[in-house]
Amino acid sequence: MQKETIEPLILVIFGASGDLAKRKLLPAIFDLFERKYLPKNFVVLGVSRSKLSDDDFRDFAFNENEFLAKEFAAANDDVKAAFAKRLFYQPIDTNNADDYAMVKARLETLDAEFRTAGNVIFYLSTPPVLYDKIPRFLAAQGLNKASEGNENAYRRLVIEKPFGYDLKSAKALNISLKENFDEEHIYRIDHYLGKETVQNLLVTRFANGVFEPLWNRNYIHHVEITNAEDIGVGSRGGYYDKSGALRDMLQNHLMQVVAHVAMEPPISPNATSIRKEKTKLFESLRPIAESDVAKFAIRGQYTASKVKGKSVLGYRDEEGVPDDSKTETFAAVKFFIDNWRWSGVPFYARTGKQLPTKVTEVCITFNQPPHTLFRRQKEMYESANNQLIIRIQPDEGLLLNFGMKIPGEGFHVKNVGMDFHYSDLSDNDVPEAYERLLLDCMRGDATLYAHGDSVEYSWEFVEPILNAWKNDESIPVYGYPAGTWGPEIADELIDPAERTWRNPCRRLTDDTSFCEL
Ligand code: BG6
Repeated sequence: MQKETIEPLILVIFGASGDLAKRKLLPAIFDLFERKYLPKNFVVLGVSRSKLSDDDFRDFAFNENEFLAKEFAAANDDVKAAFAKRLFYQPIDTNNADDYAMVKARLETLDAEFRTAGNVIFYLSTPPVLYDKIPRFLAAQGLNKASEGNENAYRRLVIEKPFGYDLKSAKALNISLKENFDEEHIYRIDHYLGKETVQNLLVTRFANGVFEPLWNRNYIHHVEITNAEDIGVGSRGGYYDKSGALRDMLQNHLMQVVAHVAMEPPISPNATSIRKEKTKLFESLRPIAESDVAKFAIRGQYTASKVKGKSVLGYRDEEGVPDDSKTETFAAVKFFIDNWRWSGVPFYARTGKQLPTKVTEVCITFNQPPHTLFRRQKEMYESANNQLIIRIQPDEGLLLNFGMKIPGEGFHVKNVGMDFHYSDLSDNDVPEAYERLLLDCMRGDATLYAHGDSVEYSWEFVEPILNAWKNDESIPVYGYPAGTWGPEIADELIDPAERTWRNPCRRLTDDTSFCEL
């Protein structure tokens, strides 16, 4: 990451004593602080309901946070002490508009003491029900705009997903946010956009003459996007049951990956151009009619099983999940993009919990050559076509599969791979997604944040699936034993006579279905 100058600022974290702040935000901020990315005049103001003092909050950050503990273990005492001095806390009832006067007063004091130039980022790491209220109450105190005479100062608002629950609520949320903050000051975090490898999709495509000519319906047979997790919902059952795999992963993270794979080249790598192209791409998604959902989408739910010799709970037995829940923990969708480049090319996206491994990748399968010349060439293509695998995580990198002659008599063709691993670029400073995104927001760069319009288009696309799954009792929720690749019927989305999903392993070059088990 480049160390550009970042202006002084106060980062206000709403929900500061919550899980996200603990797991992701505080460790990311500490890491940035330790590596000297943050300006001298920088403070964090934690805000939430818990009645903590500044010292309690420091204690929460330092002693009760196993995630920070890891970072701290290697850090020196002076850095830790200096970081502690930047942490402040203000308890309020976030539902009470009057309490925001306390935030205002605290900001004024901190601004005067630390000379933060009036710059403030409000980070909403709270339950989504507060996304409408907090900006409104901040605006009522005049905190959404820099004070008079200090017009150069900024006020930015960062919100975490979910951006709405469906199209209607997403639209309502956008309207309400924009009533209080300008779109250019609203930063919608999708942490997948902060992943180096998601950004690298654009470089792979647009910095390499070799791929660009092939990147279209003439050469690409189909595109798969797989997101697998090898854990269940754990303690998040209460949240997850109201969400499900489609809302939790596909509507946001995976659709952003799709946009990076499929968008047209932007005219420049700036936020406006990239977001424009992504929005156009989302607009081109072919809607799936509610009556066709059973043909284009499969849902599943993990059932109890033994994985690596250990018993694993079924989804319905998880804490906070009703016994008769129909919420999907696996979703696979086939869809098309109706534009010039992608006409007729099927895209397949799937995501699931309790699958055999934790992997996210894009797999592009190219067309076969027009004529079979060599013996066994045909079988080779049936098993594994020319494929480009772009690994988002782990073992980040690229793998290109192609046929080579087996040495010896005749022309026997074997599928081989050429791989590049990001770890080979080890002297590069690869930041964690939250660090990158926080820094970008501090710099005022919204390139890696989701635009309100694209969020709505993406909801528009998934809405018929959500509706059909809610309303049509005849669409089954297929059980799949924990530790498997989801319901077998999901294989049939991809024409089984022709090919199957690539079932990846942790190592980029492996793809035997159950290598982690
Ligand atoms: C979150 C989802 O947004 O992304 C979680 O709410 C999921 O359910 C997580 O586990 C996956 O993120 P990553 O970066 O580990 O792939």
